[in-house]
Amino acid sequence: MNIVQGEFQVLDGKATSKAIREELKKKVEERLAEGKRRPHLSAVLVGHDGGSEAYVASKMKACEEIGFKSSLIRYDEDVTEEELLACIKKMNEDPGLDGFIIQLPLPKHINEQTIIEAVDPAKDVDGFHPVNVGRLSIGLPGFVSATPKGIIELLRRYGIQTKGKHAVVLGRSNIVGKPISQLLLYKGTPGDCTVTVCHSRTANIKEICREADIIVAALGKPHFVTADMVKPGAVVIDVGTTLVEDKSTKSGFKLTGDVLFDEVAPKCSYITPVPGGVGPMTIASLMMNTMVAAESRD
Ligand code: GUN
Repeated sequence: MNIVQGEFQVLDGKATSKAIREELKKKVEERLAEGKRRPHLSAVLVGHDGGSEAYVASKMKACEEIGFKSSLIRYDEDVTEEELLACIKKMNEDPGLDGFIIQLPLPKHINEQTIIEAVDPAKDVDGFHPVNVGRLSIGLPGFVSATPKGIIELLRRYGIQTKGKHAVVLGRSNIVGKPISQLLLYKGTPGDCTVTVCHSRTANIKEICREADIIVAALGKPHFVTADMVKPGAVVIDVGTTLVEDKSTKSGFKLTGDVLFDEVAPKCSYITPVPGGVGPMTIASLMMNTMVAAESRD
């Protein structure tokens, strides 16, 4: 394919997320007409971290718009691990609850892994439980965490070919880097990529990126990916969401991606913006997972 520089398509995560949420809303109406329950999602929020408050509020708002039942359980910063475990046990056993999430990060005195592993994998709509992580790694159905699932959904809905492509993932986090690598490796469509995972200790990261047909940037380093690292015609997915000081905005901060968009975009075939790319897909994916959880419990 001959790609002329400048002919790139922006992957609109906002519009795609809206389309998915509208599909889910219709599905809820169909379920109700069939006498089935509204899917029910709960979120546990510990403390008052501004970022977590905002994320949870948008998850609850999405539930309301789609017609899911939602409930928010709040604890103070000094909640004990035992109290949280007791709450999780109750939610695991609640027949009227389809899925729940514990918003991370948790206060330092609580072991996050202990909390994650206490969640029933069948209600783990965040896809963080080792059972769901393991199922993903061997290609079995299970809950996949929201951000990587959202990226795959974006590739699928835009009909972007991945088979035989070299995908370079920047970042090895449990929430994004590792699961998106597994999904791109998946035997099928989207998938069938040859995957290279780069991280902070990788040598020759620029050279490796230049070989990529698809770049997924999930390092959390603003503007890390520059035009000299991108092959003409590449697909660039930006997962970065760093708040960078910017006096020109009302809040004094600007949400900044890992890709220097203005410089990189003209070299791409497809690229996601920040904001409005991967971010909105994350909530849509959580809602999709909740629908699947409800359907499996009908
Ligand atoms: N904190 C940041 N992202 C997430 C997420 O996807 N789920 C939960 N539970 N906490 C988070």
